[in-house]
Amino acid sequence: MLKNDMLEQWDRENFFHPSTHLGEFARGDAPQRVIRTGSGCHIEDREGNRLLDAFAGLYCVNVGYGRQEIAEAIAEQAKELAYYHAYVGHGTEASITLAKMILDRAPAHMSKVYFGLSGSDANETNIKLIWYYNNIRGLPEKKKIISRWRGYHGSGLMTGSLTGLATFHNKFDLPLAQVIHTEAPYYFRRPDTAMSEADFVAHCVSELEALIEREGADTIAAFWGEPVLGTGGIVPPPAGYWEAIQKVLDKHDILLVADEVVTGFGRLGSMWGSEHYGMKPDLMTIAKGLTSAYAPLSGSIVGDKMWKVLEQGTDENGPIGHGWTYSAHPIGAAAGVANLKLIDELNLIENAGRVGAHFNKAMQEAVGGHANVGEVRGEGMMCAVEMVADKDKRGFFDASDKVGARVAAALLEEGVIGRAMPQGDILGFAPPFCLTEAEAEEVAGKTAKAIAKVLG
Ligand SMILES: Cc1ncc(COP(=O)(O)O)c(C=O)c1O
Repeated sequence: MLKNDMLEQWDRENFFHPSTHLGEFARGDAPQRVIRTGSGCHIEDREGNRLLDAFAGLYCVNVGYGRQEIAEAIAEQAKELAYYHAYVGHGTEASITLAKMILDRAPAHMSKVYFGLSGSDANETNIKLIWYYNNIRGLPEKKKIISRWRGYHGSGLMTGSLTGLATFHNKFDLPLAQVIHTEAPYYFRRPDTAMSEADFVAHCVSELEALIEREGADTIAAFWGEPVLGTGGIVPPPAGYWEAIQKVLDKHDILLVADEVVTGFGRLGSMWGSEHYGMKPDLMTIAKGLTSAYAPLSGSIVGDKMWKVLEQGTDENGPIGHGWTYSAHPIGAAAGVANLKLIDELNLIENAGRVGAHFNKAMQEAVGGHANVGEVRGEGMMCAVEMVADKDKRGFFDASDKVGARVAAALLEEGVIGRAMPQGDILGFAPPFCLTEAEAEEVAGKTAKAIAKVLG
């Protein structure tokens, strides 16, 4: 194909990129990369650079790039029926089959799946369902939602509010008043380094209890959490955290929403993060790994307890007034069916657990001893390297030094994509589940080189 010499210029002149420095990009002072193709764990740009994508896009291309089985399922669906809506009882073979496949994999107490397009809209759906649920129960005051600092739940108005990261709030007038935040289960950043893990869990619990006491349990509807904090720093919870939190929620009739957008469908080496940590959620949010991002599709999985009340609500009020034009889009659903089949056929969840453990170990060995590496942490196919100015005193770098971003840029020069997480000097990894042990070692070795290049 003839190369379009204007593409980079058209990009700067016309394309409003998400999460991008707008002025620098328009002026040509910010990174610009046009991706052409991908295969397995690698992508290739139009200059012919081949990169090992150790973040699977945005931790979503779980089965890896270039899977023909999914591409063909999408093409067949598009030829047969590209679209029909799902309102008033309509469905397609793909969407009905996918709902069944999801529920077959979900915890036994989950009842139905509502399809959307993105993790953000699925979380918005969950908020609406919770408000509806408490209205039907005659509890109109019970509406506030507790989320954690450093949680990430999307970029909408309410979901951006749930997100507990400053860059997603600043200048957007967020968070909205119905959302309140509590302590992040981030042991490395505990308020007092003398705290043991158990002390820190007790601290998270007492912070939550104090918040509930202050606000009044009769005003709080739900607690939102990713089983493993993702965008906030890739942080597995301290031992016993979810069990302790869940006890508090049960005591106060507060629903638990497990945001499984990153962890669902195998990233931790288990089907669900909830299962991995013994959580018993009332709602689960899914997206990314549902189709491995071959087509946009998300879902809200509703548990039995809420489902009964939703049915009661429509018996009393008529059809539920909530829908997207593209709910259960047949092309997304066909991608989802093919993706879940492929995960089973290739035993990719087992691979995520096994190679993920090897990857975390290799990373620990490669960089854990460096004077500026405060912590290497992870679970399954998730791993983070947190860099510090002073290891003994846990002194952090000044944000203006942009250490995380500089190390990620140095790693890119080595041909590996890691992600500088938005808050802190944290290099994050979440590779496709098909990563091999050799690729895991390559990422670890090149990370050590990149850190040495920036920090000595
Ligand atoms: C845990 C979690 N929830 C929700 C979202 C939002 O998903 P989307 O970007 O598809 O709206 C993300 C995106 O990264 C996420 O990581």
